Amino acid sequence: MDIQTVGVVGCGLMGSGIVELIAKNGYNVVVREINDDFLEKGLSRVQGSMGRAVEKGKLAAAERDAAWGRIKGTTNMSDLAGVDLAIEAAIENLDLKKSIFKELDQVTRPDVILASNTSSLAVIEMASMTRRQDKVLGLHFFNPVPVMPLLEMVRTFLTSEETYQTARKFGEGLGKQVIVSKDAPGFIVNALLIPYLLDAVRMYENGFASKEDIDTGIRLGLNHPMGPLTLLDFVGLDTTLFIADEMFKELKDSRFAAPALLRRMVTAGYNGRKSGKGFYDYSK
Ligand SMILES: NC(=O)c1ccc[n+]([C@@H]2O[C@H](COP(=O)([O-])OP(=O)(O)OC[C@H]3O[C@@H](n4cnc5c(N)ncnc54)[C@H](O)[C@@H]3O)[C@@H](O)[C@H]2O)c1
Repeated sequence: MDIQTVGVVGCGLMGSGIVELIAKNGYNVVVREINDDFLEKGLSRVQGSMGRAVEKGKLAAAERDAAWGRIKGTTNMSDLAGVDLAIEAAIENLDLKKSIFKELDQVTRPDVILASNTSSLAVIEMASMTRRQDKVLGLHFFNPVPVMPLLEMVRTFLTSEETYQTARKFGEGLGKQVIVSKDAPGFIVNALLIPYLLDAVRMYENGFASKEDIDTGIRLGLNHPMGPLTLLDFVGLDTTLFIADEMFKELKDSRFAAPALLRRMVTAGYNGRKSGKGFYDYSK
């Protein structure tokens, strides 16, 4: 299938990155948010990120302008009627994602592939809400989407070979290195990452060490670009909590049980970098 226009549902941290990446690669994008405020915030994130790329000399101003011209924002799902591929990037909640897939199935052409950027949820559950279960798969991008080279593809029991090949070609065309996972909780990366992040919170919660020393230990001891608490701020504490809760619900494995501190911080609005506060302060 010839993909020219891509629909994106959700313009948060990930959705805005996906919009930017896809528009820069020459596709038209229609992005849907729940209200004008979120849409405006999401689109200004796209604009800000592309502006920084221009300042750093990584993107020509003319290319930025052309990419920006290919992006259309909306609050109506029906505006995704003409898309050739749809990618869902709303919050990590299965009931919400299922209802979005039901809507996408109703508004898009029956031959259109529907993908989820879910970090951990069962893609087959979303597929089950559609009349095209063979055309549903996971396209799991990493944050920040324009920069991170990885795309984790998730095939369900029912994803067809044709769907997989079309989506793989699309992902590789965006310049991403593709890895493929079964539709298992957390897929490859988060099945390993989430217990590690939760352990770091437990370590800090138990007074084992200062947050700075936990982060420095991993950064300098293991040569990671950032420590786990900084990474949590970057990913979003709320998003990490959503993922951990969903994985715990499915696996009943204590490695995925969220520490009380993480839950308290999210309730208090300490969602990490995007909210100005997390383990560290970003308000300035
Ligand atoms: N944050 C990460 O590092 C990361 C990495 C990979 C994948 N993911 C996954 O990507 C998805 C989005 O995460 P995020 O970090 O961008 O979260 P976010 O909270 O920054 O953004 C989610 C956005 O979805 C919007 N939304 C909610 N319901 C919607 C609907 N019905 N229609 C349209 N928009 C809707 C919200 O208004 C919000 O702006 C989640 O499934 C998450 O697990 C996140």
